[in-house]
Amino acid sequence: MLPKHDTAPSGTWLATALARFGAGTADLAPTTRSLLVRTIATPAQHGRLINTLSLLEHMGSHKIMATQHRSDIDQATLRHVAEEAHHAYFMKRQAEKAADRPLEYVAADLLAPAAARMYFQRIEAATVHTLGRDCGPRAAYLYMSMIVEFRALWFYGLYQETLQRAHHVLSLKRVIGEEQNHLEEMATRLEAAGERNDAHIAALLARENILYSRLLTALDREISGAAQPSPLESSSRTTVRGA
Ligand SMILES: [Fe+2]
Ligand SMILES: [Fe+2]
Repeated sequence: MLPKHDTAPSGTWLATALARFGAGTADLAPTTRSLLVRTIATPAQHGRLINTLSLLEHMGSHKIMATQHRSDIDQATLRHVAEEAHHAYFMKRQAEKAADRPLEYVAADLLAPAAARMYFQRIEAATVHTLGRDCGPRAAYLYMSMIVEFRALWFYGLYQETLQRAHHVLSLKRVIGEEQNHLEEMATRLEAAGERNDAHIAALLARENILYSRLLTALDREISGAAQPSPLESSSRTTVRGA
């Protein structure tokens, strides 16, 4: 029988929820690691992946700004939007460093952009659907942020491990620390507002897992396709060296 967490303090609840999230998504870890290893090995593709992460961070910060503009907006929300905007900037900077050229949020500079945008939009739709019409914009923001933060923390953790193994100079430690804080904050704020509903969270995390799996397949397809260049590209690639 599954334990109930409705009355557990958010710290204890979160530790259990994180462990459960990790176990529930463990089957996607090998494909994610493999994708990261192959992408990091090719600076041009790595730049496109980081630019895609920048796009997702930018979409996240934009979403907070677009929905949280009431006169009683608090420090925690303003700090959250500022940090997500900073993540978008940080990723853009690192993406351009890796690719050694300016990058835009256009198909040629991103990986699987349609799938990346769809991932975000469908989580938003699922949140609205799950919480129902009576749910206010603040609860929707807290839920959606929490769901996305579970994945962000998991993904960035694998990414950081892979970067370290590849002796890559990029460090995600600050981003990971901030994502961890965001997740804790969302759990605490939902708890404090008496709005944390574990059945909603479980349903949304299950949906997110499917959406992430689709995004991963799309990213993998794009990277695998790029790994089989035409003979002409293959001969010219040997002269390219990344930073
Ligand atoms: Fe972020
Ligand atoms: Fe975050």
